[in-house]
Amino acid sequence: MLGKLSFTWLGMLVMVLAWATFSQAEAPQFVGNEGCNCHKTELKDWSESTHGLALDQLFASKRSRKQNKAMKDLGLDYKKDYDQDEKCLECHTTGFNQPGGYSLQNTKEDLKGVGCESCHGAGSKYRVLHKEKDETFTKEEAAALGEVYPPTEEMCRKCHDNEKSVFNSKSDPKYGFDFKARLEEKKSWHKKYELLFKH
Ligand code: HEC
Ligand code: HEC
Ligand code: HEC
Repeated sequence: MLGKLSFTWLGMLVMVLAWATFSQAEAPQFVGNEGCNCHKTELKDWSESTHGLALDQLFASKRSRKQNKAMKDLGLDYKKDYDQDEKCLECHTTGFNQPGGYSLQNTKEDLKGVGCESCHGAGSKYRVLHKEKDETFTKEEAAALGEVYPPTEEMCRKCHDNEKSVFNSKSDPKYGFDFKARLEEKKSWHKKYELLFKH
């Protein structure tokens, strides 16, 4: 009886472990912007963009007067640094607390700010496909490996006009999010370039 019972438990344990390993192997991980650096022009534009500089907002010394005022209006302490505050890091870094992403323990330079993967999806898998089949991969193949292209409104709304922060339209209508209009806003991501190969 005891033997049979522990055998059942053992079987279940093996199954759980197998599932855990399998699902871990399945999920693409964040690699950081350096992993996307074949796209040199996008990378350069991005590094000077609002999203590229988004982590700055969490440092008192780097905020503008206007931004300090915005914080004050929403009841935040503008004299304080918020770079250790998980509640802020979620939207001002790349892949926060997700596999390979930014965290209080993983402060890799190229995960700071709203990086490529925040809009295009965690890159560990589709990056390999890009390399191997540069000219010939299809959109569908890349999407199956986690690539989001073109970026969707849903991706943006993980951060924009989201209840997880006070920077939303309930606090102030100016933080509302009109996807189409916002995509057009200059300097928020990178210019659009012709890709060498069609996918
Ligand atoms: C749910 C995502 C999210 C969280 C969490 C978040 N932010 Fe932001 N933050 C944003 C977005 C999106 C914007 C840009 C809003 C816009 O311009 O429409 C922004 C803008 C800002 C700005 C500039 C505001 C302005 O009007 O210029 C500051 C400063 C800022 N955040 C600081 C913080 C601090 C400090 C925290 C933590 C207390 C925090 N954020 C948490 C998403 C977030
Ligand atoms: C805030 C969101 C956002 C971020 C961050 C972002 N992109 Fe994009 N990216 C877009 C959008 C939107 C498009 C245009 C999609 C379309 O064709 O309609 C795009 C298009 C592209 C394209 C296709 C060619 C082109 O220029 O249009 C490449 C390549 C690309 N992004 C790479 C990158 C890389 C590399 C980074 C990081 C350095 C990055 N992106 C960061 C939103 C983003
Ligand atoms: C991981 C969170 C995150 C994602 C995803 C994200 N954003 Fe942002 N976005 C921010 C933060 C934070 C800011 C404010 C940064 C700052 O003021 O320095 C911002 C700023 C902007 C601004 C500039 C606002 C201004 O007043 O200068 C625009 C436009 C914008 N985002 C559009 C988009 C679009 C379009 C998408 C999706 C394709 C997107 N964002 C995806 C977090 C995000």
